[in-house]
Amino acid sequence: MEAILKIEHLSKTLGSREILHDISFETYGGEVFGFLGPNGAGKTTLIKVVVGLLTLDTGKVTIAGKDLAKDFEAALANLGAIVENPEFYKFLSGYDNLLQFANMRGGVEKERIDEVVRMVGLENRIREKVGRYSLGMRQRLGVAQAILHRPKLLVLDEPTNGLDPAGIKDLRDVLKNLAHKEGVAVMVSSHLMSEMELMCDRVGVIANGVLRSVHPIEELVSAAGIGQEEFVFSVDDPEKGAEVLSHAFETEVKPNEEGKLDLTFPKEEAQTSLARANRILIESGISLYTVSKKENRRLEDVFIELTRGEGKQIG
Ligand SMILES: Nc1ncnc2c1ncn2[C@@H]1O[C@H](COP(=O)(O)OP(=O)(O)OP(=O)(O)O)[C@@H](O)[C@H]1O
Ligand SMILES: [Mg+2]
Repeated sequence: MEAILKIEHLSKTLGSREILHDISFETYGGEVFGFLGPNGAGKTTLIKVVVGLLTLDTGKVTIAGKDLAKDFEAALANLGAIVENPEFYKFLSGYDNLLQFANMRGGVEKERIDEVVRMVGLENRIREKVGRYSLGMRQRLGVAQAILHRPKLLVLDEPTNGLDPAGIKDLRDVLKNLAHKEGVAVMVSSHLMSEMELMCDRVGVIANGVLRSVHPIEELVSAAGIGQEEFVFSVDDPEKGAEVLSHAFETEVKPNEEGKLDLTFPKEEAQTSLARANRILIESGISLYTVSKKENRRLEDVFIELTRGEGKQIG
C-alpha cells in the first residue's frame, strides 16, 4: 500500500531548541492515525510542518507522492486540515459558509457541498446561522470545509478539545467514517490515550519531540490489560495452591510477596475460571480465605509509561 503521508527524518528547531528530532512515520488511506503526546511534546509543531505553516529544517514530507518542499501546491492539493479553530462567518448559514469557501477555492461542484454536509451529519442544521451552532457543530462544519476538495489526507490538531462527550462521539464517528468508508488518511493529535483508543487504528507516541513508537491500537489496549481480569487468591497453603492452580490453568502461578496468588483470566471466561479455581483449591484440601479482583491498569498509565520511559517495549 502506498503511504498518503510520508515523513522521513524530520527535524525542526525553533529559536535555539530542537522541537522535533528525526521523526519518521507513514499514514495510509483508510486509517485514522493518532498522534499522541503530552503537552509540549511537539504535536502542533509537527502538524504545522505537515500543513505547510512551518518549514522543516531537515528531512522530507511527502503528501500523496508529492514532496512538500519541492512541490508545495501539488502536495497541498491533497491535504485538508484544521489547525486552529476553523473560522466562519457567524451571520451566514453553515451552507453559505461552505458555498463561499467553495467559490473561493474553485473547482467544487454544488453536489459536493451536499455530500460533505451529509458526511459530517449536519443536513438538518446546515441552513441555520453558524452563530447559533454549538462548538461541536462548528467543528464538524470545519471538517466539511476541509474535505470539500476531496483531499486524500485530513489533518486535525486536537479536534475534540472543548467538546462535550456527545460532541466528541459525533466528531469521532465522522472521522472514522471518512477513513473507513471514504478511504481518507486521517491524522489527529491528542494528549488523551482514552480518546485515541476509541478513535484511532494506529497510534504514534511522541514525547519531547521524539517519536517513541507506533502501535496498532489493539496493542496498546492489550498492554493496558483491558479484556482481562486479574484476581488475587488468599489461601492457607500458598505453595500447594500455586502448584495445583499452575497445573490446572497451564500457566505459572507463584505466591507473591504477600503470600497470595495472582491469576489472570480473559474477561469473558472470568466467572467460569474463577469457579473452577475455587473448586480445584477445595478439592485439593486447600482453604480459600478470600478472592479479590484487581483494578485494571488504566490506559493512561500505559501512556505515561510510554512517554516517560526510554522507549520501553510493550505488548
Ligand atoms: N515559536 C516557538 N519558539 C520556540 N519554541 C516553541 C515555539 N512554538 C512552540 N515551541 C515549543 O515547542 C515545544 C512543542 O510545542 P507544541 O506546541 O508543538 O507542543 P504540543 O505537543 O502541541 O503541546 P500541547 O499538547 O500543549 O498542544 C514546546 O516546548 C513549545 O514551548
Ligand atoms: Mg498543540
